[in-house]
Amino acid sequence: MKIVIVGVGHVGLTTAAVLAELGHDVVGLDDDRTKLELLRAGGAPFHEPGLAELVERVTADGSLTFTDDLAAALAGAAVAFVCVGTPSLPGGGPDLRFVERVGADVAREATDEIVLVEKSTVPANTGERLTQVIAREQEARRGGGPTVHVASNPEFLREGVAVQDTREPDRIVYGTSSDTARDVLREVYAPMIERLGCPVVETDVPTAELIKHASNAFLATRLSFINAVANVCDRVGADVDVVAEGMGLDARIGPAFLKAGIGYGGSCFPKDVDAFLHLSRSVGYDFALLEEVRRINIAQRQVVIDKLVEELWHLTDKTITLLGAAFKPGTDDLREAPALYLAQDLLDAGAHVRVYDPVALDQVKERLPDVEVVDDPLEACRGAHAAVVATEWPEIVGMDLGALRDVLDYPIVIDGRNALDADAAQAAGLHYHGVGRGTRRS
Ligand code: UDX
Repeated sequence: MKIVIVGVGHVGLTTAAVLAELGHDVVGLDDDRTKLELLRAGGAPFHEPGLAELVERVTADGSLTFTDDLAAALAGAAVAFVCVGTPSLPGGGPDLRFVERVGADVAREATDEIVLVEKSTVPANTGERLTQVIAREQEARRGGGPTVHVASNPEFLREGVAVQDTREPDRIVYGTSSDTARDVLREVYAPMIERLGCPVVETDVPTAELIKHASNAFLATRLSFINAVANVCDRVGADVDVVAEGMGLDARIGPAFLKAGIGYGGSCFPKDVDAFLHLSRSVGYDFALLEEVRRINIAQRQVVIDKLVEELWHLTDKTITLLGAAFKPGTDDLREAPALYLAQDLLDAGAHVRVYDPVALDQVKERLPDVEVVDDPLEACRGAHAAVVATEWPEIVGMDLGALRDVLDYPIVIDGRNALDADAAQAAGLHYHGVGRGTRRS
């Protein structure tokens, strides 16, 4: 089947490569020509394990090609996936102008019946809006046009394991409003469903859109919940990791997404929580729980500052090393990364900030010119008054704790991801603070 992917960012490129690998004829469309040149030359526009190799393989055998010509891409295509960005607007809602533009462009350029599938995270009325945009555009420009079936097929991929999540999803969800759209999506995923036997949810468009919103908001809620529990643990001398383990053994709760720390970041959770809150309010429901989820997440960064102040009194002229910058390991993505907010808060408090990250240092320097970047974790800590683990990269978790003790000026470690072995840190002579794990003094 010929498939068009509109927008080859993180979601679009991964989807394109995996659908090409499944045996489809995939065209990646983007208006960023520099990015297209890079992709054609076998380069990767961002860090995602396994993706560059996969893209190279499927472009070499011709099953994935790239273009900026929409009309050529649409010729003979059965389906087009909308994978363009939906950044947050200042009021919290998503900026849907790129999604709208794709709808209008496809309405203008399509010569044959086609299924237009939202993959970008969008509010639960976007399908209806897109249908209106298409009808209006076709009427205005051509006095009609081929049927464009609007559908929703949300993705649930995590950065860092995006290829694996797309190849082997826990479930496939699609919402359609016509039998044609449903049959086309069945065919798109048939090879994957046959191979994996993964569950499929076939539903209507708004329900599919809501599944995506509710899933991400629920996961963010779990994280803020366990972070709030961690703050209580710190006050009563309990260990949140063991609390989470004990909770997770209840089959109704499960162990995933219960790791306390300095909060969630990334391109999805913060934006999606805001967007769901905004959507709920716009339809007359005040989903105040999500406001609290958001508030707890933002406040969690202050926990690190409080622990530093407890140890160092004031932070003016102190050197603090942040170990890790990316919002999680396995990616160079700094969007909404707690470490960046923390770096800015430390700079505002008068501290000298050093940052180590195995892959994201160039972007860190671009975003925060006032921090010092160092490409070795131990060197980054040399002479510092405290080190803060902000991302649990293996290079950081595997550090020699005795050597860390030797290079630090004061032996203070704030483990913002509860990723180090607290006993080993104490034995190595460090004053160790976790999040919800108490303090271990050597
Ligand atoms: C998320 C969703 O998991 C994915 O389904 C959706 O499509 C996009 O958003 P992603 O943003 O890549 O994926 O990251 P994820 O691995 O889910 O982690 C999100 C954040 O939560 C990270 O900052 C991570 O460090 C944090 N996290 C995650 C925790 O603090 N504790 C946990 O137990 C799990």
